[in-house]
Parts: sequence; C-alpha cells; structure tokens
Amino acid sequence: MSEEKVIQSVILDDENSTLIILDQTLLPNEKKLLRLTSQNQIWEAIYSLRVRGAPAIGIAAGYGAYLGTKESTAESYEELYEDFKKVKEYLASSRPTAVNLFWALDRMEKRFLDEKGKSAQKVKDALRDEAEAIRKEDEKICATIGGNALTLLKNGMGILTHCNAGTIATAKYGTALAPIYLGVERGYNFKVYADETRPLLQGARLTAWELNEAGIDVTLICDNMASIVMKEGKIQTVLVGCDRVAANGDTANKIGTSGVAILAKHYGIPFYVCAPLSTIDLKCATGDDIHIELRPDEEITAKWYEKPMAPEGVKTYNPCFDVTDHNLITAIVTEKGIIYPPYDKNLPKIFK
Ligand code: MRU
Repeated sequence: MSEEKVIQSVILDDENSTLIILDQTLLPNEKKLLRLTSQNQIWEAIYSLRVRGAPAIGIAAGYGAYLGTKESTAESYEELYEDFKKVKEYLASSRPTAVNLFWALDRMEKRFLDEKGKSAQKVKDALRDEAEAIRKEDEKICATIGGNALTLLKNGMGILTHCNAGTIATAKYGTALAPIYLGVERGYNFKVYADETRPLLQGARLTAWELNEAGIDVTLICDNMASIVMKEGKIQTVLVGCDRVAANGDTANKIGTSGVAILAKHYGIPFYVCAPLSTIDLKCATGDDIHIELRPDEEITAKWYEKPMAPEGVKTYNPCFDVTDHNLITAIVTEKGIIYPPYDKNLPKIFK
C-alpha cells in the first residue's frame, strides 16, 4: 500500500497533547479530523464509533489513558495511580466487545506499574511512549497479517468482506483488507465484494470508500445479497476481521458475520478471520462468554434515513456483534502465522 494512499485514523499530535482522529461517522461524505484532548471526548469518540474497529479502539484507548492521566494534578506516584485507575475504568466502559480496548488499557497499566516510584511527569511520559508503541506495533502487525493472509489468495479471486477491517480500523493497512492492499501492490487483481453491513453501514460507508480511494476493484452489495453472489460463483474466499476470539476459536465480529460464515460453508467457500494476537482472548472459553454490545434502537429505525423507517415506538433488538462458531472458520490469520483447527489446541501455542 503506497504511503500517499495510507489514511491514518488515529495519531497523537506533535506536542503530545491532542489525539487526532478521522471522524468515521461522517465518511464517505466528509473527511474531517477531530482534535481530542480529554478522556471524555475520547470515550465519546469510541462510544459513537467516530473511531472504531477493534485495533483502532485499542489504540485510541491507549492514548486516552495517557491523555486522561496527563490531566491529573497528582504529584506523587501513588496519587497518580489512583487517578490512572479511574481513567482506565472510565474508558473501559465505552464499548464491551472488542477485547483490544481492555488489552490496551491493561498494557498501559502494566507500564504504569513498571515505572513504580518515578515522578508523575516521568510516568506520564512513559504512558505516552507506551501508547505510541501500541500504535506503531499495530502497523507492523497488520502488515504481517496481510503477508500471511496473502499466501491463501490467488490472483483473480472474488473476495467477500463484511463490515470494515481496513486501514481506518487499525493503525494502518487493516487486518482483513491488508492482504488485498498487499496483493494489489504486487500486481494481483482481486474483485472485492463489500457487504453494506446494516445498521451502521461500515461496509458501504467505510470499506467501499477506502478501497475505492485506493483504486481497488470493489462492488458494494446489500447484506442480503451475499448468498446470491456466492451462488453465482463470484466469491472464492471470505475475509473478515474480528473483535474477540475465544479460546475455542469462536469469534465475535460485526453483526451478520456468522450468517456470512454459514452461507460460505453451504457454498464450500473458505472463511478466514484475520486477527492480531491482541484480539485473541484465551480467558473467554467460548463465544458464550463474549459480552455482545447492544446499541440504541434509533440506529435501526432512523439513523441513516431522511425520515424514520419504522413505526414510532416499535420494539427493536440491536446487537452490534454476533459470534461465528469455530466450526465455520477455515483458519484464523494472525501475525504469528495461520492457525488451523483444532483452535482450542492451536491458539494457546502461539502465545508461548
Ligand atoms: O462496531 P465496529 O464498527 O467497531 O465493528 C468493527 C468490526 O466488527 C471489525 O470487523 C473488527 O473490529 C475488526 S477491525 C480490524
């Protein structure tokens, strides 16, 4: 992916005091950068999906922990730690499903504890460095995932993807879209089909947008068209990202992903999940242990319409993610390689 085509969704500004994010709720119509300085603004940006996608949420939370702690006037290490814990707990309440949020906050806490006894300023500097490290590592990890996943693809393939696991969902390159960028750079021609991804339209607004910007052949379809494009032989592989992988390989990703996996199985199409190790949560035994986020009714009934498209007061159910059963997943592509079933045996091995 050439440098000039890279869109960065989360960065810290030069004076280390402002988090600059691309407001993903405005895409594709407006490319607006937001400058966030407080933990409240960062919480809101995560909750409202201005910054979204599991790795990008983790990165934003890392910076949020730094900037929130930077606001503290505590002078001693111990007092600062009390303030840090409050910031951490607050940011952790923004979204429940993507484990990268909790992973990044735990990593920030570990760094805090490693600086034990140091001055408040030194600890704040260390937190900034740790947040920067999380972002920089994510870039490398995504590039490696892209290289690993590309070994599964062939020139000319039709690829279906759901939601947005692209460059704007990460520090750079994306997870599920990384092999597509890399392949195209190496001269492959892929035909990408992007599910629109109701109700928040990450496929239409974000995936179709970023692939289009990069000059990649992308076709937008409604979610309920996945079956017909598979049946018509247009799809040779499915690539998706994820928000949390349980120890048995069950995988939470954007609502609708499990339906795509069921269809892929029916049509004999490989279904690959691309995930950094920070998205794998061995503490969750199975998908049943993954907390699924419920979002406001209005996202289904009105949000993207000019007028409400459902009767006022109608009951809604709006789970934001679903769990794809591990039996439906052909492989999980990580920065440590491609993991095949049995996941309960093979996932723990990559952490050794
Ligand atoms: O609600 P979102 O838009 O944050 O959901 C994002 C997804 O489901 C992505 O597929 C996942 O986080 C992986 S991003 C590399």
